[in-house]
Amino acid sequence: MSTIVAPSLLAADFLNLERDIYMLNRSEADWIHLDIMDGIFVPNLSFGFAVTNLLKGVTQKPLDTHLMIVQPEKFTEEVAATGSTFMNVHYEVCPHLHRVVQQIRGKGMKPAVTLNPHTPVSVLEDILSELDMVLLMSVNPGFGGQQFIEQTLGKVARLKKMIEERGLKTLIQVDGGVNLETGRKLVDAGADVLVAGSYIFSSDDPEEAIRGLKAL
Ligand code: DX5
Ligand code: ZN
Repeated sequence: MSTIVAPSLLAADFLNLERDIYMLNRSEADWIHLDIMDGIFVPNLSFGFAVTNLLKGVTQKPLDTHLMIVQPEKFTEEVAATGSTFMNVHYEVCPHLHRVVQQIRGKGMKPAVTLNPHTPVSVLEDILSELDMVLLMSVNPGFGGQQFIEQTLGKVARLKKMIEERGLKTLIQVDGGVNLETGRKLVDAGADVLVAGSYIFSSDDPEEAIRGLKAL
């Protein structure tokens, strides 16, 4: 299976969003990754449903919504209404994670759980079989353009082992500081899905950058 590539719209040119979406449509990108921030869980704000609701009209690519917000369970309805395939919630903000995962599935979406860089993969032992994907943050969430945290590679390998031991098909996604070099190491460690923002959108040829990541 080739690497799944999910460009992060956070690094797109918001004054030319439609142009960038059409570029992604033409490209080999598999999904579009949407970063929603609340200024509470993470020290930044991004865009909200006013923007993400527009996407289903202009792209056929599956949407992967990464909620960097407290109480994400309040928004399952809204995320489902955007047509999102995946709803990604942070482990760190969900004391009743099992319930949230069921709610996401109940709305017809695929549940994914995100771990901050300091959160060990072992916390997922008793929920892994309920998840379609685990997102390992390889930067502290809140901003694009940060440096990749190398320790993520060991986490990917440990998570891969947990998934294989249980005979599961859970996807491993990594987000933050992904480029051709870090992407290579991540795929070697067992990552299935690479999220990349700056690397793709600041490239002279974003479609080629996407192709390069897909080929890893
Ligand atoms: C960070 C976001 C990322 C971000 C990645 O909080 O979750 O999706 O857009 O940006 P790069 O690829 O620039 O590190
Ligand atoms: Zn993200």
